[in-house]
Amino acid sequence: MVLIDGKRVSTEIRGRLEKETAELKTKIGRTPGLATVLVGEDPASAVYVRNKNKICHEIGFQSFGQNLSAETTEEELLDIIKKLNSNDEVNGILVQLPLPDHIDSEKILLSIDPEKDVDGFHPINVGKLAIGNALLTPCTPTGIIALLDYYKIEIPGKHAVVLGRSNIVGKPVAHLLLQRHATVTICHSKTKNLQQVTRQADILIAAVGRPHFVNSDMVKEGTVVIDVGINRVDGKLTGDVDFDQVAEKAGLITPVPGGVGPMTIALLMENTLKAFKATQ
Ligand code: GUN
Repeated sequence: MVLIDGKRVSTEIRGRLEKETAELKTKIGRTPGLATVLVGEDPASAVYVRNKNKICHEIGFQSFGQNLSAETTEEELLDIIKKLNSNDEVNGILVQLPLPDHIDSEKILLSIDPEKDVDGFHPINVGKLAIGNALLTPCTPTGIIALLDYYKIEIPGKHAVVLGRSNIVGKPVAHLLLQRHATVTICHSKTKNLQQVTRQADILIAAVGRPHFVNSDMVKEGTVVIDVGINRVDGKLTGDVDFDQVAEKAGLITPVPGGVGPMTIALLMENTLKAFKATQ
C-alpha cells in the first residue's frame, strides 16, 4: 500500500506558485490578489479563512480579508462583493460557506464575477465545467485530480466511483474524472446495492461526510482510495474511510488529515494565479 502524501504535494505546488509570483513581480510589477469574505464566527470557517490568508502571504499574493459580523445583511454583503468585483487588485473572491441562514447563498454566488470565482461555484463556471472548458474549477476536486496525476495513476478507461453528490465535491469531481476519460459512477444515499458498485471501483472517491463509512468489504484489492471526509469524532479529525481496515486492501490511499485537505488551499491559490493571468 502506498500512502498518498497530500501535504508534500501541496507544498510542492505552493513552492512553484511562490516562484512564479516572484517572477511576475519582477516582470510586470504586479502580483495576484485574493479576497476572502467570512460572515459570522463559525470557528471552523474562521480557521480555514485565516489559513487561506496566511498562505497568500507566504507565496507573495496580496490578500484582502473581510471578516463580517453574523448580523451582516444580504444587501451589505452584495455591496461588498460588488466592490470586490470592480477592484482590479482583486483577482479571486472566496465567500466562505456556509453563510448564515438569513442570507441566500445562491444569490451571493451569482453576484460574484465568474472570472474572479476561484471556488468555481458560479453557475457559469459549473456550466463550463459540464461542457469541459472551465478555467476555474472547484478546488477540492481539482486537488484530487492533481494527487492522482502526481502519483501517476492512470485515469482513462478506469472505473471511478464517487460516493456523494454535493455541488462542492461529488458532482464536480465526477465531471473532472469524466473529462479525463474515466468511466464514472456517482453513488448517494438512495443507491441500491452500494457495495456491489463500490467493489467495481478502480478509483474510489469518498465524499459523504460520514465517519468510517467505507469499510474493507466495499473495496476490491488494489483500489485507489481518496478520502475527502472531514468529520470530527470526539474532537479528532476522521475521514469517510475506515482507514485501518481499508489500507490493507487499497493500492494507494489518502490519510485524514494530510491527504486531500492540504490540496484544497493549494488549488485555490493556483486558481487565483490563473484568474490573474487571464486578466493580463
Ligand atoms: N466551505 C467548505 N468548503 C468550502 C470551499 O471549498 N469553498 C468555500 N468558499 N467554502 C467552503
